[in-house]
Amino acid sequence: MKTVDSVARMSTLAKMLKKEGKSIGLVPTMGYLHDGHLSLVKTAKKHADVVVMSIFVNPAQFCPGEDFEKYPRDFKRDEERARSAGADIVFYPSVKDMYPDGYATYVAVEKLTDTLCGASRPGHFRGVTTVVAKLFGIVKPDIAYFGQKDAQQAIVIKKMTEDLNMGIEIKVLPIFREKDGLAMSSRNIYLSKAEREDALVLYQALKKAEEAISAGEKNVQAVIKMMTDMVKQKPSARIDYISIANAKDLTGVKTISGDILIAMAVFIGKTRLIDNIIMKV
Ligand code: PAJ
Repeated sequence: MKTVDSVARMSTLAKMLKKEGKSIGLVPTMGYLHDGHLSLVKTAKKHADVVVMSIFVNPAQFCPGEDFEKYPRDFKRDEERARSAGADIVFYPSVKDMYPDGYATYVAVEKLTDTLCGASRPGHFRGVTTVVAKLFGIVKPDIAYFGQKDAQQAIVIKKMTEDLNMGIEIKVLPIFREKDGLAMSSRNIYLSKAEREDALVLYQALKKAEEAISAGEKNVQAVIKMMTDMVKQKPSARIDYISIANAKDLTGVKTISGDILIAMAVFIGKTRLIDNIIMKV
């Protein structure tokens, strides 16, 4: 495995690989790698000749007052994990190299970013699409891999790729969970012992909703109320949103039918966690 820490060198290397006829799979991450991240690399290995994992804590996608400064970072540990999962190249650029003085170009996907996390984190998705567009330009992947954990992010990136005719296939892979159901996240490290217990309520509420819907519940408000009541029982929990939307375009649904996304964001103490499930009804 090779570590490349300069944009120019990564770009040259990608051009060389393309010339040799190699297909490139890209797994963009912000590091502090867990098994969810590694599952993306393992799948990418099955499809692409060369797998590039990028590790870059992207300042452009953090809102003022969020955790950019204290976001967990451990590059040595990440390098080992990426190697063990089978990554061929780790791309680890600096902020200065990605956003040099005078940087002025941003990519924004409209409408899809007005709801859910987009509504509570203004500017977040503009930062995500900008950095992902840059990574696509530098690494030139044929396929890029994202997690269902960030459901809205995956939909927004697919839309960007289509709208800008980037010609990159976007694959979205299932959520990796801890044994007790908590969705893996680099931010789980922030949770105290009591908060870690309370955090289980996200998946528990989603499962309860799934059960009710499978049993025939069609009323959106009834399901959201049931989930809200469950979350509110946890002392450290504060709901950001709980939503049931069309899984393809994130528009609101009047009754529960078709492909639906049940998504939630909850602050557990100071830590904002997200989780979701998709159902075909
Ligand atoms: P990060 O949160 O590090 O996640 C990197 C990728 O791993 C994303 O596609 C995310 O959806 C996926 N992922 C995270 N937790 C997962 C889990 N438990 N199971 C499966 N996949 C999981 O998402 C970002 O970084 C950034 O926004 C990024 C796309 C890298 C742009 O900066």
